[in-house]
Amino acid sequence: MITEVPGPRSRELLARRDKVVARGVSTALPVFIEAAGGGVVVDVDGNSFIDFGSGIAVVSVGNAAPRVVSAVQEQVARFTHTCFMVTPYEGYVQVCEALDRLTPGEHEKRSALFNSGAEAVENAVKIARAHTGRSAVVAFEHAYHGRTNLTMALTAKNMPYKQSFGPFAPEVYRVPMSYPYRWPSGPENSGPEAAAQAIDLIEKQLGASQVAAVLIEPIQGEGGFVVPGAGFLPALAQFCTDNGIVFIADEVQTGFARTGDMFACEHEGVVPDLMALAKGIAGGFPLSAVTGRALRSWTRPTSEAWAAHSAATRWPARRPSVPSPPSRRRTSPPVRDTSAMSCCPGCAPCRNSIR
Ligand SMILES: Cc1ncc(COP(=O)(O)O)c(C=O)c1O
Repeated sequence: MITEVPGPRSRELLARRDKVVARGVSTALPVFIEAAGGGVVVDVDGNSFIDFGSGIAVVSVGNAAPRVVSAVQEQVARFTHTCFMVTPYEGYVQVCEALDRLTPGEHEKRSALFNSGAEAVENAVKIARAHTGRSAVVAFEHAYHGRTNLTMALTAKNMPYKQSFGPFAPEVYRVPMSYPYRWPSGPENSGPEAAAQAIDLIEKQLGASQVAAVLIEPIQGEGGFVVPGAGFLPALAQFCTDNGIVFIADEVQTGFARTGDMFACEHEGVVPDLMALAKGIAGGFPLSAVTGRALRSWTRPTSEAWAAHSAATRWPARRPSVPSPPSRRRTSPPVRDTSAMSCCPGCAPCRNSIR
């Protein structure tokens, strides 16, 4: 520290900020940052802080990581945007190849790229609905999935995310989360008991055949860093398989080695049908993805159905920074049996077909 906090230059910028930036955009630390790297952020008055925030789990490979910076510099000097749907470029394909290699499961996969975590979650739900022909989406207590209209509906907590922003998207149903720390009969029971409660609610109040997707953060973030009890995720995944429900893992925050393995669902050998990915995927650049099983619905109803016009345009097209050791193909736990999943309800010939 070389000045009081906030220092004079930060105070000056805070005053300017108050005049033009919306009040709803909050700030945790009242200093303005001039540089960051090596786990440290330096403010405009020259004070240094250890960066525990990491942009909320975004700059997992480091702030201004040299490989990311040089890839971006090289790319933006070539072109900044074409829109992949108009004129494609190799970088988009490279990123999808890396996602195919890194995400759990050896089955055939597809990816589509977007701009934010919320956009990825919304698109995963669209894909699941198109795939199943059903509308209900099951989400969990304490869940956080973003701040767009559908993802607010999927998010559990009212304050600060939803208060006064409704009405919200329909067909979202909430069920209990395994919460070992607060589980009445003890943490060891929280996995199986919470799974049984969630499944019971789905069966009794919704009907499993009406459910398009079960959407879950394998470790909850904004909801209080809740690690579910052992057995909870595998039981839900199996229930989804048995009932033709798309199991979506929202790994926007837990993905890309944030929880000790490349993805949090790997701790219990769970292979999701779809994964929503963002944050650590691009070291601070606006990129997100849905990656998963190559469901027939990925090609319906039009070729533009899963696209975002500005997606990934600020992403280095030539060298994706998705951590990708050259020969590494994820050695995944056994792929879960999806033979019970139907590609379109009642359409046996389509079962498990690819594209
Ligand atoms: C689990 C989870 N899902 C979705 C989101 C939304 O991501 P974004 O803020 O990029 O829209 C977040 C953001 O914190 C998140 O933690």
